[in-house]
Amino acid sequence: MNDNLHQLRCFGCGARISGAEARPDFRCALCGDLFEVEYPGWGQPGGNDRPNAGALKWLWRERRSSSETLDHSGVWRFRELLPILESYGNAVTLFEGNTPLYPLTRASKALGIEKLFAKHQGMNPTGSFKDTGMTAALSVAKERGFEWVACASTGNTSAAMAAYAARAGLRSLVLIPDGKIAWGKLSQAMDYGAVTCQLKADFDGCLSLLTEIVNLAPIYLLNSVNPYRLEGQKTPAFEIAEAFDWTVPDHVIVPGGNLGNSSALGKGFRELRNLGLVTRMPRISVIQAEGANPLARSFRDNHGTALEPVEAHTRATAIRIGNPASWRKAARVIQDTDGWCLDVTEAEIAIAKAELGTEGLGCEPASAVTLAGLKKLRERGDVSPGESVVLLLTGHTLKDADYTIGFHRGTLLEEAEKAGLEGKIESLRRNAVAVDATPAAVLAALKGSLG
Ligand code: F0G
Repeated sequence: MNDNLHQLRCFGCGARISGAEARPDFRCALCGDLFEVEYPGWGQPGGNDRPNAGALKWLWRERRSSSETLDHSGVWRFRELLPILESYGNAVTLFEGNTPLYPLTRASKALGIEKLFAKHQGMNPTGSFKDTGMTAALSVAKERGFEWVACASTGNTSAAMAAYAARAGLRSLVLIPDGKIAWGKLSQAMDYGAVTCQLKADFDGCLSLLTEIVNLAPIYLLNSVNPYRLEGQKTPAFEIAEAFDWTVPDHVIVPGGNLGNSSALGKGFRELRNLGLVTRMPRISVIQAEGANPLARSFRDNHGTALEPVEAHTRATAIRIGNPASWRKAARVIQDTDGWCLDVTEAEIAIAKAELGTEGLGCEPASAVTLAGLKKLRERGDVSPGESVVLLLTGHTLKDADYTIGFHRGTLLEEAEKAGLEGKIESLRRNAVAVDATPAAVLAALKGSLG
């Protein structure tokens, strides 16, 4: 680890320690809060280690056509802004990042927002945004000589961790809530060779158990309480700013679960602004599922100053989290950027996911909360037609095919959940139909689909 260039600063009490001094659970020994990576040399304009904004923009673009292995990664392409490794030879990459930014045409028309985009982080190597964080933190684990890495997960973190660990030749341990994760994700952890334990606990229970375990054995914790995860996960902010030619969109909307991702994006945009690569930060809003909405409640009740954990229930299992570890960091991002934190219902999530599907963009249910949230913000008049908006789609649609099939077969939602939205839901459902193997039967089905 490059302890010369970075240090860890406690988000709660401001205590500073070196990377080597971090406890296995990444909690501050003084106040118990989480750390953020900071780079002291960036402090002063003209300071020795302060990156040169113009040179970086040029260098990062050049790297897109470079033949160097590390330059193929959309995370390490920006390595000057995450100097956390002693040697880049230790970087473990699956060529993550560099994900597409798609213009949304139908949603844009429906909402009257001309400049509406989806940044599809589900197009990463293991199908979720977790890869960008994993390449960073797992590389640190490798550099520090760990043989075992571990995470608690609702599925995607475990898939990413297992893949990167396999790539690096490390062993991995996964704790997941029994019966509450999508099969696609579980299958990945198995295939990449993780020791996978299904616990009779929810995600929050898995994470607190793992915290005890890493204090007992030399296992490197790779949940987003690990501040190096967030260093990788801040890079989509750089990609977005680059795609907007170093202006930033007016508004970025992110799903919220354990709240590491919103914290990371906020950090990314903040650093770009502080280093003079962009002149302002976008508004950053976080959307949660109604049944797993501790931060949305907190913003409703006390503008994000205190958080009451909830017992989480949602079919968007990726964000089925009631006691988010990084809530303070995420709350600060929302407050600093004048963003919002809202929740959306199960039916609103299912509809938004199907609507994205009609644009040829699949995503997992947790990602679709962003479009559902934008619709609410637009209805409330909090987003105006002239604003540019980027939705962060966090996971690939094939992660949770059961959900999609349930929606189209009409078995996903309860009657009460659909109330008032039946017409909308029916217009989006496209169930497969059983027909005789004759041209006439297929053509009849075709006719039937035209209404
Ligand atoms: N979207 C997807 C697809 C996710 O997998 C997650 C989190 C989130 C959004 C929320 O991100 O936790 O940083 O606020 N999944 C974790 C996991 C918890 O274990 O895979 P967050």
